[in-house]
Amino acid sequence: MFMPDVEEALFPRRKERFEDRRKEKDQRKLLDEFFDHATLLAVSRLITQGQFAQLDYPISTGKEGGVFRATVPDGFRAVKVYRIGNAVFKRLPAYALEALKREAGVGNYGRLVSAWTRREHTVLRRLFAAGVRCPEPFGYLRNVLVMDFVGDEGLPSPRLQTVTLEDPTAIHDDLVVQVRRMVNDARLVHGDLSPYNVLLRDGLPVLIDVAQSIEAEHPQARALLDRDIANFARYFERLGVDTSTERFLEAVGPVQLGPKDS
Ligand SMILES: Nc1ncnc2c1ncn2[C@@H]1O[C@H](COP(=O)(O)OP(=O)(O)O)[C@@H](O)[C@H]1O
Ligand SMILES: [Mg+2]
Repeated sequence: MFMPDVEEALFPRRKERFEDRRKEKDQRKLLDEFFDHATLLAVSRLITQGQFAQLDYPISTGKEGGVFRATVPDGFRAVKVYRIGNAVFKRLPAYALEALKREAGVGNYGRLVSAWTRREHTVLRRLFAAGVRCPEPFGYLRNVLVMDFVGDEGLPSPRLQTVTLEDPTAIHDDLVVQVRRMVNDARLVHGDLSPYNVLLRDGLPVLIDVAQSIEAEHPQARALLDRDIANFARYFERLGVDTSTERFLEAVGPVQLGPKDS
């Protein structure tokens, strides 16, 4: 059951904003898959709060949720909508699910997804405050997160994975700095870093998809950081950059990881 006014705000029929307009049928499918009644309410509340004026179109849709471009009077925002369901938690390692359940309390998937969304918001706040290049978070409600739109003139920035870099070494060196700030200043390890979760805006890397990040004090922090950096190193080595997991780590410099008393 959809509320017509919210549906209109989601996919306004009047405005023909994109060359690649979705067919009525595709919109219906999207509505049915992502926007259950409670999610539509959350979107409508966020609109009332002035977080954005309307959702424009999906930038990306996946099993766990979708990211939409949204319009505000002076530009754009990105709105990430998590599906209420167990999809988010299927790929989640046990330690992350445990932490989440502790945070959400024993409950249904709705509460877990809300806790997950809040987690992504909190992590983005900490990263942004520490000077890590990431989307600034603006708010969240239930399973809906509002953040800065990473793009150029309304077009979403491409993922690192899909672009041809002019100067891969410069991007590599910048990512070293981002990782250093993330670990030493924000005290977090991303845990899912790869060229898929880095966007390239104005020639500079922007880190996204941070919900699964863990505290630097976590017993698994070292292993996760090593894996993150191995992903980057492999990617840059393939592009001919003189690096390796060890060299990347060395460039990041000394980091304090794991339980405090070890
Ligand atoms: N703030 C943002 N601005 C612009 N595009 C974004 C933003 N956040 C995510 N995206 C796009 O949406 C895709 C999916 O987002 P992501 O956070 O990686 O979610 P997931 O991988 O869990 O689906 C990204 O690869 C990127 O293309
Ligand atoms: Mg991602």
